[in-house]
Amino acid sequence: MSANTVAITAEQYNYDIVKKFAIMAMVWGLLGMSAGVYIASELAWPFLNFDIAEITFGRLRPVHTSLVIFGFGGSALFATSYYVVQRTCQTKLWGGKWLPEFTFWGWQLSIGIGVILYMLGYTQSREYAEFVWPIDLGILVTWVAYATVFYMTIKNRSQPHIYVALWFYGAFILATALLHIFNNLAVPVAWNSLDSYSLFSGVQDAMTQWWYGHNAVGFFLTAAFLGMMYYFLPKQAERPIYSYRLSIVHFWALTFLYMWVGGHHLLWTALPPWVGSLASAFSILLLLPSWGGMINGIMTLSGAWEKLRSDPIMLFLITAMAFYGMSTFEGPMMSLKSVNALSHYTDWTIGHVHSGALGWVAMITIGSFYHMVPRLWGVKLYSTKLVFTHFWIATVGIVLYIVSMWVSGIGQGLMLRAFDQYGNLAYTFVETVTFMHIPYAVRAMGGALFLSGMVLMAYNLYMTVWGARREVVPVAGQAAVAATRV
Ligand code: HEM
Ligand code: HEM
Repeated sequence: MSANTVAITAEQYNYDIVKKFAIMAMVWGLLGMSAGVYIASELAWPFLNFDIAEITFGRLRPVHTSLVIFGFGGSALFATSYYVVQRTCQTKLWGGKWLPEFTFWGWQLSIGIGVILYMLGYTQSREYAEFVWPIDLGILVTWVAYATVFYMTIKNRSQPHIYVALWFYGAFILATALLHIFNNLAVPVAWNSLDSYSLFSGVQDAMTQWWYGHNAVGFFLTAAFLGMMYYFLPKQAERPIYSYRLSIVHFWALTFLYMWVGGHHLLWTALPPWVGSLASAFSILLLLPSWGGMINGIMTLSGAWEKLRSDPIMLFLITAMAFYGMSTFEGPMMSLKSVNALSHYTDWTIGHVHSGALGWVAMITIGSFYHMVPRLWGVKLYSTKLVFTHFWIATVGIVLYIVSMWVSGIGQGLMLRAFDQYGNLAYTFVETVTFMHIPYAVRAMGGALFLSGMVLMAYNLYMTVWGARREVVPVAGQAAVAATRV
């Protein structure tokens, strides 16, 4: 790489691949969240299982988690990382047309086939790594291709500096490769069987799984989306990030600390207590870089707070930061052994998951997409009003979701450990289930609201890109396309 290489113009970037991943993120997002609303409804009204094995809660649950995390989240990360790496390195994506294209098909086919297999009953039974071994191999090859495209593009950059967003994306790619390989080490029962046995057993197996599980949260659902935040938030705010130095501290502290905390998923189990204590200590420490990052994001808007009144995209981005702060406060608190004794095995965990997943991951993605999609196609956003409406529907949906899960989870936890005067359990299990019915119905409503916001977004973006009869306005740094499209 030479710092003197001439920077290329916007038309020379490979935007085709970014567009494809962005479209698929929306498709998987809609399907995955519909599955979420359906399983939420099954929990409230069990008759919805209809005794059809393929759509029972047990099979649809991993369909939901895989579609939202890997389909929606993953495709959004491919799209934005390919976009950000080209723009900040001022160079075209490495690998010509075919290598990025290969990553697209590899990822989409793995997910599509993988979730159909879940519905047919084929699973590895490791949470967030349920795909059977042939799919794992497909993902491995795809990921190596992705890493090559990404890192080689950085190598070919025409700018001397590697912007901090790329550090976060880079760490996510490297960590995901490590996690995927080690957690999926397994021996197939036979070459023509989809079943396999893990190389680990007993408590080591659980430890490996939750080392994977929490780093899937730390690197897939957090570090990578922070990469998104560090590019799109300052861009939309039209201001530099509040403190670049803080962003570097944020990066190193986060990547160092996350790797140690998996044990907090196994507190009060056969895991040696010192491993759990170590994980809890590192979890508490994680609060510091997480809040540093949150403050860095939010303070980027200092001096321009009025944008929150006029710019709904900014509202999405800043609210995402607020939820990032909230879930990274709640997480360390739940990792305290005494709190975990109440929260574990209850819906409190589910509430925590979705304040991170909906409030942070989905909100930051939505904000970034409203910023990026018009620029990709060189057009103006169809309706800002609809973005405002989307914001409020989504926010009310999330609040209903989280609050109902706090009520359900804390209530459930307290009921499960209440004793009467004779030392017997005060409530039967079924009484806790009855108690949870109303919160479950409210959660399903909150989810349905969030999903309707996504439908609105899909419509808005569809009209933005392919909508009927509208002026096409060139966006800064982008060539104007045809004057009017029908
Ligand atoms: C319309 C929105 C959504 C609804 C209604 C919804 C609903 C649900 C339901 C009912 C469960 C099962 C809870 C249980 O087992 O008791 C679940 C689990 C989960 N969902 Fe969602 N979800 C939504 C969006 C998302 C998104 C966008 C993500 C990630 C980006 C996500 C990530 C997860 C994860 C990781 C779990 C597993 C949690 C655990 O095992 O502790 N969800 N969701
Ligand atoms: C400082 C940051 C965080 C810490 C220390 C933390 C800690 C925890 C703890 C203690 C649990 C409960 C474990 C259990 O009882 O089984 C948990 C569950 C979970 N958290 Fe967090 N959390 C953090 C941030 C986040 C964020 C930002 C997200 C989402 C984007 C997230 C997603 C999840 C998920 C998906 C689970 C459920 C895993 C499962 O049981 O399936 N966490 N977290």
